[in-house]
Parts: sequence; structure tokens; C-alpha cells
Amino acid sequence: MRISENVSLRSYNTFGISGQARFFSTFSSVDELKYLLEHPPLPELPPLILGGGSNILFASNFFEGFMLKNEIKGIEVVREDDEYIYVKAGAGESWHQFVMDCIKNDRAGLENLSLIPGNVGASPMQNIGAYGVEIKDCFHELEAYHMQDHTLVTFNSADCQFGYRESVFKRKYKGQFAIISVTYRLSKHPKFNTSYGAIEEELKHMGVKELNIRSISQAVINIRSSKLPNPAEIGNAGSFFKNPTVDAAKHAALKEAFPHIVAYPVANGDYKLAAGWMIEQCGWKGFREGDAGVHERQALVLVNYGNATGDEIYRLSQRVLDSVQEKFGVELEREVNII
Ligand code: FAD
Ligand code: EPU
Repeated sequence: MRISENVSLRSYNTFGISGQARFFSTFSSVDELKYLLEHPPLPELPPLILGGGSNILFASNFFEGFMLKNEIKGIEVVREDDEYIYVKAGAGESWHQFVMDCIKNDRAGLENLSLIPGNVGASPMQNIGAYGVEIKDCFHELEAYHMQDHTLVTFNSADCQFGYRESVFKRKYKGQFAIISVTYRLSKHPKFNTSYGAIEEELKHMGVKELNIRSISQAVINIRSSKLPNPAEIGNAGSFFKNPTVDAAKHAALKEAFPHIVAYPVANGDYKLAAGWMIEQCGWKGFREGDAGVHERQALVLVNYGNATGDEIYRLSQRVLDSVQEKFGVELEREVNII
């Protein structure tokens, strides 16, 4: 547990932004975290918990704070009954490896969330979701350490206030808690979710005869690999913006002006709009200026081709946001955490 000063962040974020953190350390247990928080290098600097760095943009290129990388490991079964098995994972476990471990052990529920980068500890932060499933569907509880009060608190699903790419940790409790472990409720009797059209198509393409959690996971991995840039090759943080929701009247007006707009009905008569489609219509898909760009296959993903600065990516995101506002009268919200 060494505290280092002026540490390069390049290998700690999937955008590949080379900024620096004023102070940096790792921790592998609650005791280590407690010690670091009680003996900070400079008491006035804010702590920031880092996971895999796959949903973060270091926009200012220098983080004047104390960055603490969570490396708490361990996966254990804590309880089981006829229906479910409750599995607790350390926040520093790789999310995808955890999903693979569940699949290997015939524990169902998270297979649609295969290949999402990052760590278990960040999974509740924005209630990660993909291909018709969100973690809230299998979430049981989490343990989090309050960094100012030095208390360990348990949150159940209602406490977390999960929404689409939302939780209480991004709002009311922003910057207050370090998530230590997350317990998921996995099913012994799987209910397959292939509602997302592309999964059915891919399963057919794969020639799958008997549906199981392995084949669904593989279908999701195949779709994701064909669409999304691999951060090991091109820096990115997945979808840069959320898909916005509009009411029925706004949707009807947009549909009239743009008959091909991509929209899905959601709760209360509202519609969720595909931000990627709108960004593409504004002409951004494949755009590149210097090393900052908009991915050529997925316009919702901003990319760093090598040496873009955090500020360049941020300014590009503002231009994208402004043009969608101008053309569609819809305000996009950034999904990526801006530091
Ligand atoms: P980080 O980027 O390290 O941190 C994200 C935020 O959470 C920061 O504010 C950080 O301070 C905070 N944080 C992290 N860990 C903790 C902790 N233990 N306690 C308290 N705060 C913490 N997301 C989806 O929802 N669905 C997708 O399909 C998806 N696809 C992606 C595809 C690609 C190619 C990439 C690069 C990203 C994708 N993402 C997706 C986004 C990202 O993978 C998730 O948000 C992931 O959960 C981030 O995990 P992380 O450990 O990298 O978090
Ligand atoms: N589209 C375009 N042009 C584009 C991109 C998308 O027209 O450049 C259209 C597609 O044709 C499709 C629709 O938009 O009709 C939706 O596209 P896609 O299925 O690729 O999903 P998305 O809405 O762009 C969301 C999530 C992803 C998640 C996928 C699969 C958000 C912000 N993004 O993307 O999550 O993996 O669905 O469920 O909700 C992430 O959060 O980082 C992320 C990658």
C-alpha cells in the first residue's frame, strides 16, 4: 500500500487518456482503505474510487485528488435455497470474469451482461445494462464504506434507487461511498431473455439448437465484438451519452419530422430515443479531428485514436450534444463520468 505522487493515469482508463493523479494508491481490504482515508497525503484533497476505468473521462488531464484503486477480490456463495444462489463478489473482481464464473457454475441471470468491461464494484453505480437486462434484475445487496463517517453500510435494491444508468451513488451519495462487495441473486432455474432482436438472430446464425446460458452469453459476446470498439485497440468508454427519454407528444412531432427515427416505447407512454441514430443523422459517425473521433460503426461511442487529450474528447462531446439539440430539440446527457 504505497502512496505515489503525480502518477500517470494512461493505463488506468480505457479511453487511454494520459493525465495524472496528484496522489494514487491501491487497496485490497476495508482495513487498507480505512487506513488510507485516515492517513491521507493531504487531508483537503478529495478521494476518488477507481475500478477498471472504463466509464471515466479525465477531462482536465490532472486530477488534484487522492485516487484509490479498488482491488478487493473474492467470490463466495453466501446462501442458497431451492430457487436461488446468492453470490458475493469483491468490488475489485473483473465483471466479465465474474459473469463467466456464474455461467461455469450454472448460475443464471447475468449472461446477457457478458463482456461489459470494468469491475464488479462499479456495476451498481450506473446499474449496468445491455441486451434487455440490467443488474437490478439480479441484485441482492451491497456493502459500502462511507469515506467521511468511516462506517460500513449495507444497501438493498430499494436503497440503491436504480434507474436506467442511474443509482443513488451517482446522485445523492456521489463521492461518499466506496463499494466493497456486491451480492447477486442467481437463479438455479434460468429464464432466458432473448427479447433483444439481435440475440435471436445471432443464435440462429450460430446454429444453436438448445438454448442455455452459455449460448446466450456467446451470442452477446459475438454481437458486442462486431459492434463496439475494443478498448485494447481504440480508446473508448462505451456509450458516451445516454439514450434520452421524451414524452408522447415530443415523440409524435419528431416522428413526423423524421419518419425513420429509432424509438422504443417505455413506461408512462414515454419513448426512449436511440441517441446513436440521432448522432449519425447529424453527420458525426466516423468523424475524426486529430486523435479524437466518433466511432465509425457506433456513433454513440467517442474514441481516442492515440493521443487525444481528455479536453479534446470533452469538447467533441459538447459539439455532438449541441448539434443533436439543434437538429432534434433533444438534450443528450453524458453517461461517462467526467473527472
Ligand atoms: P470506473 O470507470 O473505474 O468508474 C466509474 C465510476 O464509478 C466512477 O465515478 C468511479 O469513481 C466509480 N466507482 C468505480 N468503482 C467504485 C467503487 N467500488 N465504489 C464507489 N465508486 C466506484 N456499460 C453498460 O452499462 N452497458 C454496456 O453495455 C457497456 N458497454 C461498454 C463497452 C465498452 C467497450 C466500454 C469501454 C464500456 C462499456 N460500458 C457499458 C461502461 C462501463 O463498462 C461500465 O460502466 C462499468 O461498470 C464501469 O466499471 P469500471 O470498474 O471500469 O468503473
Ligand atoms: N444506431 C444507429 N447508428 C449508430 C448507432 C446506433 O442508427 O451509429 C441505431 C441502431 O441501428 C439501433 C439503435 O440505434 O437501431 C440502437 O443501437 P444499439 O443496439 O447498438 O444500442 P445503443 O442504444 O446504441 C445501448 C446501450 C449500450 C448497450 C446496448 C445493447 C446506452 C447508452 N447504451 O446502446 O451500452 O450495450 O444498448 O443493449 O443505453 C454503454 O452503456 O456503454 C453501452 C455500450
